[in-house]
Amino acid sequence: MTLWQGRFGTSNQSAELFAFTESLSFDRRLAPDDIACSRAHVRGLERAGLISGEDAGALLAALAEVERELAEGSFEFQAGDEDVHTAVERRVTEVAGEVGGRLHTGRSRNDQVATDLRLFTKRGLSEVARGVVRLQQVLLARAEEVGDAYLPGYTHMQRAQPVLLAHHLLAHGWALARDVDRLAATRRRLDVSPLGAGALAGSSLPLDPDWVARELGFAGRFENSLDAVSDRDFVAEALFDLALLGTHLSRMGEEVVLWSTEEFGFLHLDDAYATGSSMLPQKKNADIAELSRGKGGRLVGHLAGFMTTLKGLPLAYNRDLQEDKEPLFDAMDQVLRSLDAMSGLFATATFDTAAMARAADSHTSAATDLAEWLVQKGVPFRQAHGLVGGLVRESLQRRVPLAELVAAHPALGADAVALLEPGVAVTRRTTPGGAGPGPVGDQMERFSVQLRADAERFGLGPSGQAAS
Ligand code: ARG
Repeated sequence: MTLWQGRFGTSNQSAELFAFTESLSFDRRLAPDDIACSRAHVRGLERAGLISGEDAGALLAALAEVERELAEGSFEFQAGDEDVHTAVERRVTEVAGEVGGRLHTGRSRNDQVATDLRLFTKRGLSEVARGVVRLQQVLLARAEEVGDAYLPGYTHMQRAQPVLLAHHLLAHGWALARDVDRLAATRRRLDVSPLGAGALAGSSLPLDPDWVARELGFAGRFENSLDAVSDRDFVAEALFDLALLGTHLSRMGEEVVLWSTEEFGFLHLDDAYATGSSMLPQKKNADIAELSRGKGGRLVGHLAGFMTTLKGLPLAYNRDLQEDKEPLFDAMDQVLRSLDAMSGLFATATFDTAAMARAADSHTSAATDLAEWLVQKGVPFRQAHGLVGGLVRESLQRRVPLAELVAAHPALGADAVALLEPGVAVTRRTTPGGAGPGPVGDQMERFSVQLRADAERFGLGPSGQAAS
């Protein structure tokens, strides 16, 4: 059954048309939101005096029945249902009888689908935010647990300066904190009900968009009916948020891959979060990390693809907009799974802090500290940089430990050699936001305060369970 047969006389639409234009195969997951939307609409119609209390009761009872059938899996979608809205309306009419014909009064699938998808996205973004917070909680717990462990910090993938492992873990944590904030902002902006915009122009019937908006838990209603039915900014924004979050997960994944190589040896994956090879018996692979990295491309693709769909569309609704759902659903599904898997991976991985320290204590890694030590003795930085650089070059050329040259240098000597002792350099990062124990302690405190607030904002307890 279609909802528009009248104009077409006999039902002679081609199979190809149906196969190409149907959306039921993917939009059926909007069914709970479609029911919620219809419920609010029925109450609105009754309130406006457009249907009787009795009719409203019958429609609400039929919606409850459809909801029950959907929940228990007994709902039968039919071959001719072109989308979820059609399927629900068809079934409501089967259950309620003739009064079902009143359900769509003053409403179009255009405002209906926009409403459904906003309800879905509100919920979905909160779920993603909870997943991010859980991963942040893992990173914080690991950062607290590793204490003063340190490793080389890198620039250009070359060892640069030692940093605390906690500092490194929380660097990812802060990027995720911005993701949570972005998800919250997107959610706030999309919290607008399009219901009552009709097909594009509103209605001649005395509907009350403000009232149904409240009924559906939206913060407010649309200002412009043309905009309401054609605006998919919220999908584009959600896709961007998910693509950027996916990019962060990809970067974390890349580091896990590197760190778990024999060459780095900084991290050992728990067996439960690693995979093997079908041919090479010794292999232990970081597939979760690799897929988190790989799916980053897919997420960026969804954003780019959908932005391209939007860019040429005139007002108001165009069927192109049906292309909003698959990328959005897929992006959410992929990100949620990646978040869960990465949380498990990070929670169970073992950090080889001895291997990290060995790498960080390589004899030139305190070179910057030597130069800064000279600065504190009054030497201009550029000159100090040249002096230390020269010693590093000499040490490499003559294969003499840097410490020996430092000890023998008149401007440096024994006090300066002490800086090269294992674990000393990292303790000298004392500035706010820096990588040493003092500022990292403060940072951890600030991070956990924000994390607790974010957990609460998205209804999570301190240990990551959803509160409701
Ligand atoms: N399945 C459609 C979508 O997802 C619903 C709206 C269809 N409206 C229309 N006038 N054909 O966008």
